[in-house]
Amino acid sequence: MYKQCMTLAFTRVRVSEISLLHSRQSASFVVVVVVKAATRVDEEGESGLSLVSPRSTRTRGREDESRRSVSFGSFRFFRSFPGVETKTARMGATDGSRLSVAPGLDVTGPHYRTLCRMMSKRARLWTEMAHHDAVTRNASNTMRRAEALCTAQLGGSDPGELAKAAVVCADEYGYDEVNLNCGCPSERVCGKGESEKCFGAAMMLDAELTAECARRMAEAVDAKITIKHRLGVRYDKTMTKEEDTDCYDYVVDFVDKIKEASGVDHFIVHARCAVMGGLNPDANRKVPPLRYDEVFALCDDFAKTDFTLNGGVNSVTHAKELLDREGGKLAGVMMGRAFYKHPCLLADVDRLIFGEEQRVPPHTRRSVIREYGEYGDRAYAEKGGDDFFDAKSRKQWARKLFKSIDGITYGTSVGGRTFRKAADALLDTHYPLDAETPPFVSFSAHIARCAEHIPSEFLDAPLVDVNPEGDLTRQDGKAVSEQITAQLTSLSVRA
Ligand SMILES: Cc1cc2nc3c(=O)[nH]c(=O)nc-3n(C[C@H](O)[C@H](O)[C@H](O)COP(=O)(O)O)c2cc1C
Repeated sequence: MYKQCMTLAFTRVRVSEISLLHSRQSASFVVVVVVKAATRVDEEGESGLSLVSPRSTRTRGREDESRRSVSFGSFRFFRSFPGVETKTARMGATDGSRLSVAPGLDVTGPHYRTLCRMMSKRARLWTEMAHHDAVTRNASNTMRRAEALCTAQLGGSDPGELAKAAVVCADEYGYDEVNLNCGCPSERVCGKGESEKCFGAAMMLDAELTAECARRMAEAVDAKITIKHRLGVRYDKTMTKEEDTDCYDYVVDFVDKIKEASGVDHFIVHARCAVMGGLNPDANRKVPPLRYDEVFALCDDFAKTDFTLNGGVNSVTHAKELLDREGGKLAGVMMGRAFYKHPCLLADVDRLIFGEEQRVPPHTRRSVIREYGEYGDRAYAEKGGDDFFDAKSRKQWARKLFKSIDGITYGTSVGGRTFRKAADALLDTHYPLDAETPPFVSFSAHIARCAEHIPSEFLDAPLVDVNPEGDLTRQDGKAVSEQITAQLTSLSVRA
């Protein structure tokens, strides 16, 4: 095998790029030369050379039978063959996992998930994280019954309580997949003082406890249990100090222990470390460098296990490239912030990722706004309608409902905030606090009137091949945006 790989590496691989990477080994700069994804694709398959981790030297390959790469110190030679069954097909990751919308606290609530589902029937959606206590007390805040292709995410570190919460998610609400969050670095979840109460990324520091949590959850329900985690944990925000909890060997052990104890066979890896104490959650999603090669190395070392790659994927085409890389080793790709700010990207997912026929006619922003408005009216009625809401709560409800769709103009020349500005300008008129009678307008009318301030050329353009950077190509884009803002300002003043 070694001989074969060496031969492959040196006879078939063209080194496409040599670059200098940062050094994390010490405060003084040690430069590491990286041969970056020296990949060659031909009719016989794809072969290449990649750097796994500067510090990882252990012999890997725990699930040896179908190992398709071999590592020498820091370097990993891989070879994939077309026509050979890929892991996704063989393992059957839960439906829709090929492309999923990442869990986002205060983002991926029921309204946002409804919006996503309008544009993609196939992508897997995720609830925002809910602590096990919150779920056992009142899951309805963020869970919905019989939601197809959706993963319920739990936070917590008490195995028994997590098992109870998993039962609520799976048996009461019908989720086919329940996930344990082991990646959130927020002080609110990792800095609780008492180690037994910490959860999120802190779970990575106690693989035995995490394995026990996963085992109890898996025993309690038929639904698939998965783990979302990082590549490691660091305490030093400068990230120059060596930490044995942030190296490839550590994450291998973490995965190994969980698999062994619980049989969990699908891990969602946010491909960077979590930094505790020093970086806020936002910085923790930007500062630690992404290490995609380590996720691919996990695919090789656990060849019978599914891995979904998460972190920094900004377009559906980028997701597709990653899914195709090395012969399709990843079970899935998960995207968060790109969809949160630019939800229209979802309109291309079913066609580009799941091979569905083009939807006819394609969605437009206008059709999505109309459908979402109708959803808003139904949700209002289900909640109890005019009998349930008073003027204040009705206005709050409308504002919250609107928040999930306010990025709909992202990627147009009118700018990502224009729709929200329209809603801010019209909210007081449409939902007056002194109203004693039913709302002045329904949610669908409110949102339709907001849309009247967006030029039709943007509302009616088909959502196909949506540009991740936005379609800000119009020379007069700024002027259009300023004109709308002026219109909206005068509306607010009148209100
Ligand atoms: C506002 C926000 C809230 C998040 N909330 C959660 C959460 O509840 N659970 C979780 O596992 N990850 C959460 N994340 C992390 C994302 O799921 C994802 O792992 C991260 O943003 C990296 O993916 P991306 O680069 O595609 O955004 C959150 C991220 C953001 C931006």
